[in-house]
Amino acid sequence: MEKSFYITTPIYYVNDVPHIGHAYTTCAADILARFHRLLGERVLFSTGTDEHGQKIEKAAQEAGLSPQELVDKVVVRFQELWKTMHIEHDVFIRTTSEEHEKVVQDFFLLLQRKGYIYKGEYEGWYCVPCETFWPESQLDERLVCPDCGRPLQKLKEESYFFALSRFTEPLLRYLEEHPDFVMPESRYNEIYSFVRGGLKDQSISRAGLKWGIQVPGDPDHTFYVWFDALINYITVAGFGRDEAQFSTFWPWAYHLVGKDILRFHAVLWPGMLLGAELPLPRRIFAHGWWTVEGEKMSKSKGNVVDPYRMIAQYGVDRFRYFLMREVSFGLDGDFSEKALVERSNADLSDNFGNMVHRTLNMVFKYRDGVVKKPGAYEDLEWEELLQDVKEKFFLSMERFAFAQALENVWRLIHFANRYIDQKAPWRMFKEGNEDLDQVLYRLLDCSRIVAVFISPFMPSTAAKLWSLIGMGEQFEFSPKIAELEWGRGPEHYRVKHPEPLFPRLT
Ligand code: MSP
Repeated sequence: MEKSFYITTPIYYVNDVPHIGHAYTTCAADILARFHRLLGERVLFSTGTDEHGQKIEKAAQEAGLSPQELVDKVVVRFQELWKTMHIEHDVFIRTTSEEHEKVVQDFFLLLQRKGYIYKGEYEGWYCVPCETFWPESQLDERLVCPDCGRPLQKLKEESYFFALSRFTEPLLRYLEEHPDFVMPESRYNEIYSFVRGGLKDQSISRAGLKWGIQVPGDPDHTFYVWFDALINYITVAGFGRDEAQFSTFWPWAYHLVGKDILRFHAVLWPGMLLGAELPLPRRIFAHGWWTVEGEKMSKSKGNVVDPYRMIAQYGVDRFRYFLMREVSFGLDGDFSEKALVERSNADLSDNFGNMVHRTLNMVFKYRDGVVKKPGAYEDLEWEELLQDVKEKFFLSMERFAFAQALENVWRLIHFANRYIDQKAPWRMFKEGNEDLDQVLYRLLDCSRIVAVFISPFMPSTAAKLWSLIGMGEQFEFSPKIAELEWGRGPEHYRVKHPEPLFPRLT
């Protein structure tokens, strides 16, 4: 049976336009989706937008729009960015869709039937002029509104609660039995000790807020935005709507999130699923945050990295490569254009691009662009290298260690460049050495294999390389894992005239 792989990004708030943080997670998810398609698995990749709640209502007010008008406007910025970044998601979910509203209400009713819902009183810090409740985690001892700076009041309102506290023990047991449930390990430890401290019941509705999904049977209440948002993951998988789809993809779900929203995903969400007696997702992976030239990214500092601008200036694949290669997935990292340029020149132009360029040039110079598959084509060193690279690449991808996966592919590239220096094909040509075909075929085969390895990361460069070495048109490129072997190339490689894949940046 084919395996299933369901990969998700957080659904993004539409009170703001997309920035590098959004681009980062979505790019990582795209890479995993492409990699699992390469493995021949059934893949479901979803991203989308979180369109309800106080923040959106407020942003709409400030923009002089209705919430629906605002979300319809901003959602396009996200959808277009994903196209520009060559993101191939299967589903784009919007929490304002009818389908999702129904799943949220059904899920609530299910929890209610199982006895985990009760009405109580929510007490929190409230800013009257902004009409906003603020969680304590966002406040300091002055207890003023983080938005307008005015003093907050402690306010009580009626609210529905989910009995999360009843899942402290079950969740602890689950974490103990599934050490890979939360990754990386440091985050697992953080979550484990948080749960061990005991969970509190969670308020899941707001009385005064209009812009949200109504609580069934109680039109004065709308759902708390996180309750609504987390459920998107099963809406997409087909919960209550498409049993075949749901049993195919749930619980083979992998949630990618930023570290700031890990607790919602690794505590509240599993609690909700346990309450509904649904199996928990396979993994929740929290990545780190990007600073910008050493500083926290913020609108007020004016240093927000606009992905559209990066792509316009450097091209999609340089941007995708940099995001995944520069920082170990899971750790914080620093973004700067200087670092992007340096990394791109070193890895993409000087190493990778150079290997391809030298190879193609020599094939033209010494063999008029055509190289026949040699009769004897074994070389223990190359053989062992590829097996080792493959093994480590797969292992890294399984652990979402993208930088390591790429580093491994670059071992092939480094080896090929050294091979060219050692074999000195220009000398072989001069001496009329017949082994030249074998050397050139090996280098083309290496380029072919590298194209397959990098295809999840830099899909358009991979397709371009595929076509340069004469494997077919770019749009026909549909890489398969079986191609990661020596000698799987054509009888004759008929290459195209070299053009630099990554011209050096100055
Ligand atoms: N709507 C919620 C998610 C609901 S998921 C059921 C949300 N939306 S968000 O638009 O604020 O998403 C932010 C995402 O971007 C988070 O994963 C967050 O970690 C990430 N980032 C925001 N700033 C970031 C950086 N500076 N660096 C990396 N990622 C950052 O939260």
